[in-house]
Amino acid sequence: MKESIQAFDYAGHIAKQLQDGQVLLSTRAEKFNSMVIGWGHLGVIWNLPTFTVYVRQSRYTLSQLDRTGEFTISLPVEGRLDKEIFRVCGSKSGLDVDKEKAARLTLAEPEIIRTPGILEAPLTLECRVLYRQDQALPQIPESLRERFYGDAVDFHTAYIGQIVSSYILRA
Ligand SMILES: Cc1cc2nc3c(=O)[nH]c(=O)nc-3n(C[C@H](O)[C@H](O)[C@H](O)COP(=O)(O)O)c2cc1C
Repeated sequence: MKESIQAFDYAGHIAKQLQDGQVLLSTRAEKFNSMVIGWGHLGVIWNLPTFTVYVRQSRYTLSQLDRTGEFTISLPVEGRLDKEIFRVCGSKSGLDVDKEKAARLTLAEPEIIRTPGILEAPLTLECRVLYRQDQALPQIPESLRERFYGDAVDFHTAYIGQIVSSYILRA
């Protein structure tokens, strides 16, 4: 069952969960895949409600996003992600592992897009990519550039997704 919500009513909760690394970014092209994110934000652009994520070049998720143009954001409503889900989705790559199986995720039928939600992380935002932009490294302050992009190769790409459906999954 899906309980429809207004994503902005959960803005504070989502910001806190991001800081705690308790948010999952899921895609489905060849297969379902999910990764932990700590960077992202809820917002508005072109008068549309959006969720923006930042994905490094080395992530399997990047190629999936570029193929499907959509993603699902999933997070706990109360408490924290199961430790095994956090460990698998935050360290293993979809290139090597089937994370649906390895993290024992229970997938839930999406409402509008093709990428499922996750029962174990029930607050769900279905997003369609509106805009994609590679980071321009020269425009990042030097101290941050050195700290996060020493190799200048594994930079982030920002994806702005329009939130097309938001709900809490109830078992
Ligand atoms: C707390 C935490 C936050 C993370 N945040 C991000 C992020 O915002 N962007 C990113 O590209 N990777 C982030 N990662 C790393 C990915 O979750 C990790 O590399 C994952 O294995 C990538 O999966 P994939 O190769 O299947 O896409 C984070 C990891 C952790 C543990």
